[in-house]
Amino acid sequence: MHPRWSGRCTQCGAWNSLAEEPAVAPARARSAPGWAGRVDGGTDAVALADVPLAGGAPRATGIDELDRSLAGGLVPGSVTLVGGEPGIGKSTLLLQLAASWAASGGRALIVAAEESAGQVRRRAERLGAAVPGVSVVVTTSLPVALDAAGRDAPDLLVVDSVQAVADPAVGAGGGSVSQMRECAASLVHFAKSRGVATVLVGHVTKDGVLAGPKVLEHLVDTVCSFDGERHHALRVLTVSKHRFGPTGELGVFEMTESGLRGVDDPSALLLGDRRSGVAGSVVVPVLEGRRPMLVELQALVARSSLATPRRTAQGIPPGRLALAVAVLEQRAGCSLASCDVFASVVGGVKVAEPAVDLALALALVSAATGTALGPDLVACGEVGLAGELRQVVHTDRRLAEAARLGFTRACVPPSAPDPPPGMSLVRASTLAGAVTALGLGRARGGPARGSVEPGAPADPG
Ligand code: TYD
Ligand code: MG
Repeated sequence: MHPRWSGRCTQCGAWNSLAEEPAVAPARARSAPGWAGRVDGGTDAVALADVPLAGGAPRATGIDELDRSLAGGLVPGSVTLVGGEPGIGKSTLLLQLAASWAASGGRALIVAAEESAGQVRRRAERLGAAVPGVSVVVTTSLPVALDAAGRDAPDLLVVDSVQAVADPAVGAGGGSVSQMRECAASLVHFAKSRGVATVLVGHVTKDGVLAGPKVLEHLVDTVCSFDGERHHALRVLTVSKHRFGPTGELGVFEMTESGLRGVDDPSALLLGDRRSGVAGSVVVPVLEGRRPMLVELQALVARSSLATPRRTAQGIPPGRLALAVAVLEQRAGCSLASCDVFASVVGGVKVAEPAVDLALALALVSAATGTALGPDLVACGEVGLAGELRQVVHTDRRLAEAARLGFTRACVPPSAPDPPPGMSLVRASTLAGAVTALGLGRARGGPARGSVEPGAPADPG
């Protein structure tokens, strides 16, 4: 807060980064004199066991992947925030949601604050979503939107997006923090008082966080994030906060010519174009929510001409790549110090869990030595700083998924459970041990100084 004009932010030191926001009383306080906070069912304290369990049951949306991630569907009166980068498919998903909702007898109203009615109509035609029971109001004014919603009486309200609507009664400009907070608070109030399941679209900034303050996430019941690589068809819906069920369950979609399609078998889709016998490629069973999924990791190691060689990671946190490179050098005698290193997850998937460590390290050694690992192998385990391998949660479920897709060998830490039928395990207690057991190149065990020559001639087939 700066009470008067200032050219420089006293907190981060940036110049010309301050915007004027007139101090205003919250809209609610002004529009409802005597407003004294929310009261649900009497002012006396009630024994928790006597509180009625009303209104908490989710209603299925009819889109399986959505219902899966939302633990059953949307709860009447709940507010769900769906964040995602521009162009990822939020409007598409929510239009399909509206159509599906209407198909099961509901009434959906879309507040389009970013597009014209024509644009929404065109998209709806493409998705087969221009159906009875789905209405649209095009406005950036929150009072107009709420008024329309009051008259239309939908049981599903979609606001696309919460950053694009503004309440003129709040003095601050559109898109400002106070606007967003006040608009979201009014929408939450509307949803709760009318029992309307409400979905808000939220934009994210370049770093992937929801634009605007955390307060938006505190206000709503459920926070989802819709992610994917714009150049790939795969889209993943994750839930990071859910007041009506567990989080962590994942919805997987594919963007097609006619909208988003649920993907029942992501592993098969992700491994569809895999070429076997290529050095630097390792398949790892990752676990997203309760759902195992096989993804292919690829690494490329090339002699560098730079003083500081490149370390580029796509779909993997850069920290995991740095760790794999350091542990390989210090604990497995495989130095990549003079090499550019690239690692990526195929298919535009993002994986952050430690279970990818082993596969990532093996992919690096495989790429550095030009030795391909067998096409029937998966690897799964966490790599510790001492180079030891550790078991990761639900290894059994991961191996079962690998076996289902025809993999017959798995490289795992020593404590891993017995494999499913038809699969054999390569158990290794250290990364160096795994490298040796899999016959990977000339990497030596122990903290030796030996280095691996990149680009050794091995035909990738
Ligand atoms: P959109 O839902 O507008 O994204 P957001 O609301 O997150 O900004 O969708 C953006 C992209 O999706 C657009 O570039 C085109 C693509 N798309 C398809 O590939 N197929 C479709 O059926 C639709 C409607 C969109
Ligand atoms: Mg949109």
